[in-house]
Amino acid sequence: MYQFDKGIDRRGTNSVKWDMPIVTSDVTPMSIADMDFEIAPAITENLKMTAGQGAFGYQFLSEKYYEAVINWMQRRHGLVLKREEICYVPNVVLGMSFAVQTVSEPGDEIITMTPVYGRFFKVVHDTDRILVESPMKNDGGYYTMDLEDFESRITSKTRAVILCNPHNPSGRVWKREELKALADICMKHGLYIISDDIHCELVSEGHEHIFISSLSDEVKMKCVICTSPSKAFNLAGIHVANCFIFDEALRKRYMEVSEKSNAAESNAFAEAALVGAYNDSEDWLEELNRYIKGNLDYFVDCINAEIPALSVYKPEGTYLVWVDFRRTGILPENLKEYLLRECRLTVNEGNFFGKLGDGYARFNLACPRTYVTMALEQLKKKFAGEDSCRE
Ligand SMILES: Cc1ncc(COP(=O)(O)O)c(C=O)c1O
Repeated sequence: MYQFDKGIDRRGTNSVKWDMPIVTSDVTPMSIADMDFEIAPAITENLKMTAGQGAFGYQFLSEKYYEAVINWMQRRHGLVLKREEICYVPNVVLGMSFAVQTVSEPGDEIITMTPVYGRFFKVVHDTDRILVESPMKNDGGYYTMDLEDFESRITSKTRAVILCNPHNPSGRVWKREELKALADICMKHGLYIISDDIHCELVSEGHEHIFISSLSDEVKMKCVICTSPSKAFNLAGIHVANCFIFDEALRKRYMEVSEKSNAAESNAFAEAALVGAYNDSEDWLEELNRYIKGNLDYFVDCINAEIPALSVYKPEGTYLVWVDFRRTGILPENLKEYLLRECRLTVNEGNFFGKLGDGYARFNLACPRTYVTMALEQLKKKFAGEDSCRE
């Protein structure tokens, strides 16, 4: 019903992905995690209505905003929220930075499991905390937490873990028992859990996203859950996100950090976008997830069947694919440049996700299938010595 195959021309829209100078007309961009699809019609309608209001002075978020978040989270995820537990923030990374500053002091340690979305490292460094990496286990591209290693790295200075669920870049959607085992260790050592659930709407059939805060009341009180409609509904340029904080004292401290930043005010389009997404675009999201699953299956099956020099594991969630190029012999530091020069593709290079990402590249498949075909053809030419890869 929706035209995902059609996509949308984003050149000339100041798009970071499409309008960077290296993305010339013969390059297929598969980097930056946003989508090359037109947003859901209900969101466009709401944004147009807001644009028509004709004055853009200071605004607040109305009760409609909070109701939309509460209803969506309850309906889609079974997450029961109270109005006051929802803390608006312009974007998830800023919310995580506030959370880190809320639960720790400069010089304290924050753990994360790597490879992981590179801005986690930046958030910790920028706030003068110490980043501790716990490498995950990688079984042929299927990543699991190494909880023995994780626990062994906890010291008297460790204050929190930053979790990514679903996980970028591996696409793992953490299972209840995995989250429970992690939460048990965190509770044992009194750690806070800063959970980035920005990809939580993007889950393939057969998998279920679980907010770690739903495991128990004890865990919930130690959590800052970071969410946004931005990934699933293609709204990153609007700047609308929410942190859920259930413990009143923790929330008060977080709000103090947020206010001191002078950076966390909402914008005139945030409410229109979020309400349009959460209240009126669920069918669009369902169809999007089916389309993305088609892209993921096509890309991963083709690589695994026809390009033995590369390997990849099918993601359980997100629209991102983590491709292992280590057998190609290309030096990790040259991989991104090689893919641009020889395959006319832009990707996110593996070491953005930490040292363990060396030799990997992350591909973004939130695009019309024709782009996936183009990327596969290019990869086949260079890495399988053939010139086509059919659906
Ligand atoms: C796991 C994860 N967290 C956060 C972000 C960035 O979110 P925001 O733009 O809301 O800061 C991304 C973007 O790719 C992401 O993949």
